Amino acid sequence: MVTFSISRTDFEFIREFVKSRSAIVLDDGKEYLVESRLLQVARKESLDSLEVLIQKLRLGLDKSLQESVVDAMTTNETSWFRDLRPFEILREKILPEIFARNNPQAELNIWSAACSSGQEPYTIAMILKEHFANKHGWNINILGCDLSGEMVSRAKEGIYSKLELNRGLPALLMVKYFEQEGRNARIKKELRDMIDYRQMNLVKPWPYLPKMDVIFLRNVMIYFAPEVKREILRKIKTLLKPGGYLLLGAAETTINLDDSFEVMRLNRTTCYKVRE
Ligand SMILES: C[S@@+](CC[C@H](N)C(=O)[O-])C[C@H]1O[C@@H](n2cnc3c(N)ncnc32)[C@H](O)[C@@H]1O
Repeated sequence: MVTFSISRTDFEFIREFVKSRSAIVLDDGKEYLVESRLLQVARKESLDSLEVLIQKLRLGLDKSLQESVVDAMTTNETSWFRDLRPFEILREKILPEIFARNNPQAELNIWSAACSSGQEPYTIAMILKEHFANKHGWNINILGCDLSGEMVSRAKEGIYSKLELNRGLPALLMVKYFEQEGRNARIKKELRDMIDYRQMNLVKPWPYLPKMDVIFLRNVMIYFAPEVKREILRKIKTLLKPGGYLLLGAAETTINLDDSFEVMRLNRTTCYKVRE
């Protein structure tokens, strides 16, 4: 049997702590993950042991430590053009449809609601630059949000390692939109300037957000319990403009959670619209 140095009581405490702040559910069997991520935080904060860290958390006085622990429990896995097809649909169907609509304000709002280190919103920005550069006069806004302050800072900075760049970024786009920065590459300012980044927790009250044409809510609801997913979808519904689109991760759906969404199969992928 595998044994962990994190006690059952401490694991239960961390589980509740993380769930109440982020809705992320840490199932049994995640002890190893929790322990290794807590140890990283302890090291960073120069704390002697896991026990000292948990003791400090229980005292509840150190807000920055609390944030670091929740941050450490997020899974930030992402890549450029992740799963490809949702971005093909965006280019081939969703954006042409929105640009062709009677839109007197000529305004396009896109939200990447759990954007991790920025690959998703920057992919959207590259699609706009590459294929819709002639939409002069349109007010185009991309908003990237994430619970993790560290990820939001990384996204804003836009600096990526070779390994990260190799995950899904076509060579042509790399040459065109990145510049060398030491051993890494930084996405050019013209793309960074297209995105507004904000730290935001999807399970706490939402700040004012403008109505959205397209919402990317990909690979984040998988971590949440059904009642949390329902509440997020309820808010998404009110935030989408009429005819707006919701894109979820491949393992996510609105089915059995909220039937006011119409499920649309396009180009062998699924997207969602609020029923009219
Ligand atoms: C697996 S990444 C997905 C990134 C990107 N959407 C994609 O599909 O490649 C999940 C992201 O959700 C964020 N996250 C987790 N809980 C969250 C919450 N309660 N509010 C906002 N973001 C959250 C994590 O910090 C993480 O960066």
